[in-house]
Amino acid sequence: TYRDYEILGMPPPSSAGVVLTEILNILENFELKQNNPESLHIIIEAMRFGFFDRIRFLGDADFVKLPTHHLTSKLYAKDLAKTIDKVKAIPSVKMSEDTSAFDESMETTHFSVVDMEGNVVSNTYTIEEWFGSGAVVKGLGFLLNNEMHDFNIQPDVSLLKNQKRNSPNLIEPGKRMLSSMAPTIVLKNGKPLLITGSPGGKTIINTVLQVIIGVTDYQLTLREAIDYPRLNHTWMPDRVTIEKNRWDAKIVNSLRSRGHNILEVTYLGDAHSIWIDPVTGVIYGEADTRRYGWAEGY
Ligand code: DON
Repeated sequence: TYRDYEILGMPPPSSAGVVLTEILNILENFELKQNNPESLHIIIEAMRFGFFDRIRFLGDADFVKLPTHHLTSKLYAKDLAKTIDKVKAIPSVKMSEDTSAFDESMETTHFSVVDMEGNVVSNTYTIEEWFGSGAVVKGLGFLLNNEMHDFNIQPDVSLLKNQKRNSPNLIEPGKRMLSSMAPTIVLKNGKPLLITGSPGGKTIINTVLQVIIGVTDYQLTLREAIDYPRLNHTWMPDRVTIEKNRWDAKIVNSLRSRGHNILEVTYLGDAHSIWIDPVTGVIYGEADTRRYGWAEGY
């Protein structure tokens, strides 16, 4: 749950589900206001905690014991929330000396569907990179994916992209890599309200998070929630990526003054979503125009 909403997502042991839950649980301890630097700072700090735990604890549940009960508990989140300083960023290195993390690329897609009977589907899928691994299964005609770089690749080594040392997500034979994909359905009073998700590799969780915050905390329309500028923090590298030319300079400066390193990126995520009006039942399908998506006639 998040406030008086119910969130259906990838269940544990999915890393995305655990991280999204942890971040939402932390945020429940605050009132979040739109266009408010303090709220944005709190959101960033919550992201930092979520992704710190992701890299410390999460990997294939058949290989590592996942403390999901602890990570998703409201009490744990409350304790973390108490450590957030409203005027100062916590430097990520203070949380751990090991500054390694890993990057992911940008070739995934998400779609949200509702049928005439009100059944809803939130679907994120990926083969990674253009044409996945480039190999088609003979006689069947589908491409094999290329997800191997979702693993941390080498033990005890920080490589080019700072792969984590001895991560629970370390590559091993027969092991499943972590995924950030976070198809999500938000319910209000037991009925689907928001169907969302996104591509974007490691930024996916934070994109989905911000669509949820837009609709629930800021009470925006889905269109506004999708269009609202996004930011992203993944614990390491210790910086906030923000969408270029979308944020008010005053807000960005205020985040800087709290000690955040800011890096502008072209865009974050691509969250094609649906909102179902709880009163009228009218269904609103909204494309995210950041990447290539728009509805016919949009
Ligand atoms: O499963 C994952 O988390 C990644 N393989 C997803 C990659 C991705 O989203 C690339 N997107 N645009």
